[in-house]
Amino acid sequence: MSSDSTADGKFGEYGGQYVPEALMPAIEELRDAYERYVLENEDGFMDEFRERLRDFGGRPTPLQHAEHLSDRYGREIYLKREDLLHGGAHKLNNALGQVLLAKYMGKERIVAETGAGQHGTATAMAAAHLDMPCEIYMGETDIGRQRPNVFRMRINGAELNPVTAGRGTLKEAISETMRDWATNVDDTHYVVGSVVGPAPFPEMVREFQSVISEEARKQSREKFGTLPDSVVACAGGGSNTMGAFARFVDDEDVNLLAVEAGGSSLAVDEEEGVAPNSASLSTGGQGVLHGARTKVLQDEWGQIVESHSVSAGLDYAGVGPELAHLVDEDRVDAVNVGDDAALEAFHRLSQEEGIIPALESAHALAFLEQVLGPAADGDDEAADDLGDRIVVNLSGRGDKDLETVIEETDKRDIPNAPDMSEFAGGL
Ligand SMILES: Cc1ncc(COP(=O)(O)O)c(C=O)c1O
Repeated sequence: MSSDSTADGKFGEYGGQYVPEALMPAIEELRDAYERYVLENEDGFMDEFRERLRDFGGRPTPLQHAEHLSDRYGREIYLKREDLLHGGAHKLNNALGQVLLAKYMGKERIVAETGAGQHGTATAMAAAHLDMPCEIYMGETDIGRQRPNVFRMRINGAELNPVTAGRGTLKEAISETMRDWATNVDDTHYVVGSVVGPAPFPEMVREFQSVISEEARKQSREKFGTLPDSVVACAGGGSNTMGAFARFVDDEDVNLLAVEAGGSSLAVDEEEGVAPNSASLSTGGQGVLHGARTKVLQDEWGQIVESHSVSAGLDYAGVGPELAHLVDEDRVDAVNVGDDAALEAFHRLSQEEGIIPALESAHALAFLEQVLGPAADGDDEAADDLGDRIVVNLSGRGDKDLETVIEETDKRDIPNAPDMSEFAGGL
């Protein structure tokens, strides 16, 4: 089953282009450029993109056998190491592709939004690399919890525009960037950071990210002679997910699992309803957000509800339309884990494998523990679905999350966290 979009940018009933009239010429210009340069490799665009991904980005990233996790779960666990990509997350695949495309289109200015700061950082790096002026919009809540990336963006020469509207997270940052783009369409390209937004963004971002599954497919064959039984990835907007799944979608025997942020663990309170979360695939309904019809967190009136996750990169009320469609078609399973489980998984990978994961990626790892760990929830069907050889997309590294982890670990009862209190104020 291929989920390639049609010319109108629809994935089943999702997707489309719900944008102000003023943006339509820019979107049509982008669609044309995407088809010529990316799909048809006009002027050798894709050759240059791949060369830069290799020499600047450090691709291919390894597919690593995680020995200790494999022992713990009695399955063979492989990590697709996107944390080792330049900048520390999968985001560079897309940012580099879009900034290069903007150059080919003759654009002179880049704008982008960022949540966890990883996409902003990757865009700032790609813009410096390709000599383009760059402005990043970031919500003030995220500026507070992802400070290392704020400094990285500035150091790479990007201007940073704080967004104070709403909760000051990704949703508001995207809205502000759309506004900037609508005002400056002639010379500006908006580097959308996930498989969201109006067509052709969801499809184009998936194509730039699909290098993950293209490599993982080949590396699986080299490492264990066949394809994996399952691929597991965390889902915020869903770009690492779609990147990790894209080249496996037609392999019906490979199970694809998207792990959303259950936030406060989806506990249902009699009065308050479902606790705050970011699991739009599992708990959302159909609505329009940021130019596309998709699954969104909304109230009974169709108003977008504030999302919550301990991880800034998953803290979003929507999800990519293609992923929503694949879930409806039962090609992808949507599951979720909560904040505490993600924090535990963060510490587990750090201690057992010597890899500090991004809090986003820790959600994918936490799902393994939920289904296969010593205190597994006894869901035999989920355990069967995972099979013997499991590829987990390690979408990023956790350096950006250290402050949040120290603070949150201190507030909660995370059983496997080291005691850091004696070092809190320095020695
Ligand atoms: C490391 C990492 N993983 C995952 C995500 C979630 O984004 P997406 O769902 O588009 O992959 C982010 C977002 O910032 C991120 O930084």
